[in-house]
Amino acid sequence: MCKKMDKNALYEAIFKRKSIRNYDSTSIDSNRLEEISRNLQSLKPLLSGTKTEFKIISPNQVTKKFGNKAPHFIAAFSEAKDAYKVNIGFMLQQMDLYFSATGLGSCWLGIPQPTKDLTDSSNLEFIILMSFGNSKETLYRTSASEFKRKSLKEITNMDGADELLEPVRLAPSAVNLQNWYFTGNKNAIHAYSSKSSFLRTIVGGSYYPVNMGIALCHLQLAAEYNGWKTKFVFDSSGDEKPPKNLEYVASLEIEKSS
Ligand SMILES: Cc1cc2nc3c(=O)[nH]c(=O)nc-3n(C[C@H](O)[C@H](O)[C@H](O)COP(=O)(O)O)c2cc1C
Repeated sequence: MCKKMDKNALYEAIFKRKSIRNYDSTSIDSNRLEEISRNLQSLKPLLSGTKTEFKIISPNQVTKKFGNKAPHFIAAFSEAKDAYKVNIGFMLQQMDLYFSATGLGSCWLGIPQPTKDLTDSSNLEFIILMSFGNSKETLYRTSASEFKRKSLKEITNMDGADELLEPVRLAPSAVNLQNWYFTGNKNAIHAYSSKSSFLRTIVGGSYYPVNMGIALCHLQLAAEYNGWKTKFVFDSSGDEKPPKNLEYVASLEIEKSS
């Protein structure tokens, strides 16, 4: 079982992970928590130069849990600049996959909130929580058909990039909104988000940028799993035919050695 961030293990977790909401309420052992804490400090950012902070917290530091009896939570904080919420999605999805790959359950949580004491304990903006612990339900899905997701055709106009976009298609999102769309070619993939409306913001739309970061995490893992070098750029001019009514988020440049 891998205990450290092994990129191939993270990639493989994409195809079996699911949100876990039913936990054994006992704490996980302290060695394991230390390992998790070390991994939290080693998450790869999407943006360099944007300060982030991740704290492992206990259930009594979380409100509006609605019966979510997880023994542990991660609270994510960020400096509020550039695409900072996309960055948090990108970073914390590495933890979601790591938990799944190492036999623990986890769930992104946009509704539960940290206590005021906790938000006051950081100079950075609180962004989102993730629960984790030993699962009391089946940890894994056994086939892609168990994922309730849009089809590839609904999320891209590209042909021939399935090995990159199928793992993205399976990504989790708030209220399963899947607000992503991809264009480009095998050398550069451009990611777009639906625009959030006032009504949509009430029901999950405020997490559109976090969802985009999650999708970009899956996209890069897929490219690197194929042995390709990658680089994120933030330049919408790379796409000659941007889709209408969507917002540009980022592009992944891909360099294949052969
Ligand atoms: C940013 C974000 C916020 C979420 N908030 C919640 C939440 O508050 N409560 C909850 O039970 N699930 C929450 N989820 C989990 C989603 O409902 C779940 O990822 C989606 O329905 C897809 O299911 P799956 O993760 O099992 O594949 C959230 C997911 C994301 C990415």
